[in-house]
Amino acid sequence: MKILVTGGAGYIGSHVVKQLGEQTDHEITVLDNLVTGFQESILYGDFIKADLSNFKQIEEIIKKGNYDAVIHFAASLVVPESVENPLKYYLNNTANTANLIKQCVTYGVNKFIFSSTAAVYGEPAPDLIPVTEESPVAPINPYGSSKLMSETVLKDTAFAYNDFNYIALRYFNVAGASVDGKIGQSTENATLLIKVAAETALGKRDKMFIFGDDYPTEDGTCIRDYIHVEDLASAHIRALEHLEEGKEGGVFNCGYGHGFSVKEVLETMKKVSGVDFPVEIKERRAGDPAILISNNRKIREVMHWTPKYDDLELICKTGLEWEKKI
Ligand SMILES: NC(=O)c1ccc[n+]([C@@H]2O[C@H](COP(=O)([O-])OP(=O)(O)OC[C@H]3O[C@@H](n4cnc5c(N)ncnc54)[C@H](O)[C@@H]3O)[C@@H](O)[C@H]2O)c1
Repeated sequence: MKILVTGGAGYIGSHVVKQLGEQTDHEITVLDNLVTGFQESILYGDFIKADLSNFKQIEEIIKKGNYDAVIHFAASLVVPESVENPLKYYLNNTANTANLIKQCVTYGVNKFIFSSTAAVYGEPAPDLIPVTEESPVAPINPYGSSKLMSETVLKDTAFAYNDFNYIALRYFNVAGASVDGKIGQSTENATLLIKVAAETALGKRDKMFIFGDDYPTEDGTCIRDYIHVEDLASAHIRALEHLEEGKEGGVFNCGYGHGFSVKEVLETMKKVSGVDFPVEIKERRAGDPAILISNNRKIREVMHWTPKYDDLELICKTGLEWEKKI
């Protein structure tokens, strides 16, 4: 198949491109504006530098490309920024996505895989954990809303156009780097816990913070479902196969179905790095649910996705090894 990967120079997209290159004979084209991505992270395929907001150019690319599928990672994804600058998020994440979908429908690209997020669940009530795809969606920031709106565009488009099929993968907390050490997360000013912990262990930061240790969890810190980026990448390979086989698409959670507390993660990073780095407790941040864990039964049963790296030490170790390189 011919596959267009938007945002393929970014953290998750580059890992998917790597697996596509290593494991399939699909023809890959990466489209990215390199705003947060890195061209050197693209290990396979062709590269087009373009911005999704350039609707004319995007139409030309889709028209000429003869693609069979689009995997759409490109987005803006800093939650606090989305609160301060919501229009950036609705334009980049929703309007640009709607246009991309429109071009796909117009030019016969009928398989679409979309990067969604657990942020669509907002702050689920404790009795709804682990969340399933049927749990109520109630995003609490423009980032989550912008992604949920794109899911709606996809659902309605697939309903209206029989040929068009999609899978929206709702990622939980993505972490780690490729196990062979070739690529990882290079994002500047990253806010993701495991990356920040790796930076602190290596002295790139003086100290790091835990936001709230008075949550109703065993050690008082928030619990999240951390998924290794290579397992997440393999979910995309499975999703592509699923669409290729003409099976029913829709929304799928992507997590391990269990979680670790912030303190457990930091202890693990201290263990694998051998560095007892300083950690300071701060006030809770607005909008952090105490526990967010996926129910992943659907993706396991329907797509036969089997994770290989469900191991917090390995997640921390691969993240740390990558951080040493950059
Ligand atoms: N990282 C996570 O933990 C996480 C969790 C849930 C969902 N997601 C979703 O996964 C996707 C990928 O995230 P990531 O962590 O790899 O982020 P990233 O910033 O590393 O990758 C995004 C890529 O998209 C490109 N891009 C952004 N806007 C563009 C535009 N208008 N035109 C062309 N290219 C554009 C960037 O240059 C970058 O290469 C996003 O859609 C994000 O919302 C990520």
